[in-house]
This record gives sequence, C-alpha cells and structure tokens, in this order.
Amino acid sequence: LAAIEIKLADVPEGQTKTFEWRGKPVFVKHRTEQEIKREKSVNVSDLRHPEHDDQRVQKDEWSVVIGVCTHLGCVPIANAGDFGGYYCPCHGSHYDGSGRIRKGPAPLNLHVPAYTFKDDIIIIGS
Ligand code: FES
Repeated sequence: LAAIEIKLADVPEGQTKTFEWRGKPVFVKHRTEQEIKREKSVNVSDLRHPEHDDQRVQKDEWSVVIGVCTHLGCVPIANAGDFGGYYCPCHGSHYDGSGRIRKGPAPLNLHVPAYTFKDDIIIIGS
C-alpha cells in the first residue's frame, strides 16, 4: 500500500503501536506530557545525530518513526531501552522517545516517514 491510515484512537496515551507500511514496521507513539517534556529538554549538542524533537514531530503528542534500526536493519523493540523509546536487541542500540539514537552502535536516528494528520487519523506515506 502506498499510504496507510491509522486511527489516533487506536493508540492510547502512553502506548506505542506497530503498523506495517510498504513492508516495514512503523511505530506510532502517543506520548504523555512527561514524555514530551523529557524529549523537548534533551540537549541537542549531546546527540550523535543532532535533531531537536521539534524537527521530528508534527504534534508533540505523536511520534511516528520507521521501525528499522539504522545500524544493520533489525527491528527494535518499542517501549524498551534506557531512554524511554526503543531498544534494538541485535547489537544493543538505545533510542529515545523521539526515535533518536542515544547509546549503542547505530549511527542515525530512526527515520521519520512522510505523514499527515487528517481529522482523527494519521495518513502514513502522504
Ligand atoms: Fe540494531 Fe545492530 S541492527 S544495533
């Protein structure tokens, strides 16, 4: 499918759900107030791949990333690792709640796909 539609109501606050898009997993994370604060306050100059959370989300409550580790392409585990995001068990990469690489061998942040919000859905791939 070129694009998929995800109902926001299917991803409760505090949870991350996995969807499939173009043969790849996409993680949709519905962030809490506390998670948003934590990601916004990260010092960008400390990051291996320096991106502010504002560059990676369209709405603070929602983080959407491709679930493919930027090291060698394994699928990370959601809601795991030391930084409130994702953990790749293949070689131990930890990503934060914005999908940014924080520890381990991966060189880059998890990719953010093209997506748009429309009413109460997210359209991935548009
Ligand atoms: Fe994820 Fe190596 S593939 S850490």
